[in-house]
Amino acid sequence: MNGADEVNTGTNGVVLKMKENPKSQLKETEDEHVSNIHSACMNHKDRSNGGNDDEDDTIMVDKEWPRNGVIVFHNVSMRYREKLPLVLKSVSFSIQDGERVAIVGRTGAGKSSILLTLLRMMEIESGNVKVDGVDIKSVSGRTLRSRFGMIPQDSFILQGTIRSNLDLEGTCDDDALWKVLELVDLKKLVESFDEKLDHRVEERGSNLSAGTVQLMCLARVLIDNPKIIIMDEATSSVDIETDALVQTTIRQVCKGKTIISIAHRLQTVIDFDKVLVLNEGEVAEFNHPHLLLQNEDGIFSSLVKDTGETSATELLRRAKEAYDDVESI
Ligand SMILES: Nc1ncnc2c1ncn2[C@@H]1O[C@H](COP(=O)(O)OP(=O)(O)OP(=O)(O)O)[C@@H](O)[C@H]1O
Ligand SMILES: [Mg+2]
Repeated sequence: MNGADEVNTGTNGVVLKMKENPKSQLKETEDEHVSNIHSACMNHKDRSNGGNDDEDDTIMVDKEWPRNGVIVFHNVSMRYREKLPLVLKSVSFSIQDGERVAIVGRTGAGKSSILLTLLRMMEIESGNVKVDGVDIKSVSGRTLRSRFGMIPQDSFILQGTIRSNLDLEGTCDDDALWKVLELVDLKKLVESFDEKLDHRVEERGSNLSAGTVQLMCLARVLIDNPKIIIMDEATSSVDIETDALVQTTIRQVCKGKTIISIAHRLQTVIDFDKVLVLNEGEVAEFNHPHLLLQNEDGIFSSLVKDTGETSATELLRRAKEAYDDVESI
């Protein structure tokens, strides 16, 4: 992309599940972690389009919102700045309560732009986005982002302890922390540490395995039990085994939650409920992966083929298996 045309969507990201009053400690920490969801998780004010962190909510959403996790995009168009071309062009799709949806598409297709729109990092030009029937325009960006669980591409761990990394605001009791550690299968490991929850965590979690770091980040997100989880899936920087471990855990612990995930590896989303295929800012395909694969000339089929023959055969098989499972319920 031409640097001159680039709109700054945030530079130094931080918190996974941003609180309505983030501690200042968090703002100072991580310049290194730059990704869209990271940007969404912090309080930055340097956007040229939108940016409504300072606005008050025009309606008060109740504490439990969103309860059902239904997300509806209706004719959404967005551009990063006046005079730049539209990057989302009349995008419409609905995600139902508890559905797992992967967003795929070639580079520049608009995947990240969808998430930035959902998080109100970018204001839309026309159309609307509703979450459980509430137009997100009427909720401040800060409130909105505090209600989603966000798992960014690169997990982040701060120097401190297990406890301080799980409970950023220091408001949880031990029971809640142990419970969430159990959920992500880290309870035994933490019990084995002499200092248990107060076990020292080095910078970037260098004294923990990559899998543990990722699971800790998942645990941190789960503490608030969000109904909607937004994921920017790990890229190749995470090894396949770690990724598989985290994905399996996410599947187990996030049942019933609405998950919207930018997928970098088709393996991890081939059994999702739906795949949203974007192409040049438009919705090209939206259906169960197995059904999309029936169209051999479709974009999803071509993305699957691009993974190589062996992998494509395996993906086709798994998509069918997942589809048959759903059908048999
Ligand atoms: N901050 C920005 N300022 C201006 N244009 C942008 C900005 N970010 C993305 N774009 C443009 O918007 C379009 C969609 O980009 P987007 O980042 O949503 O694609 P993507 O599908 O996430 O791609 P990738 O797979 O490379 O992450 C592209 O044409 C891109 O050049
Ligand atoms: Mg992207």
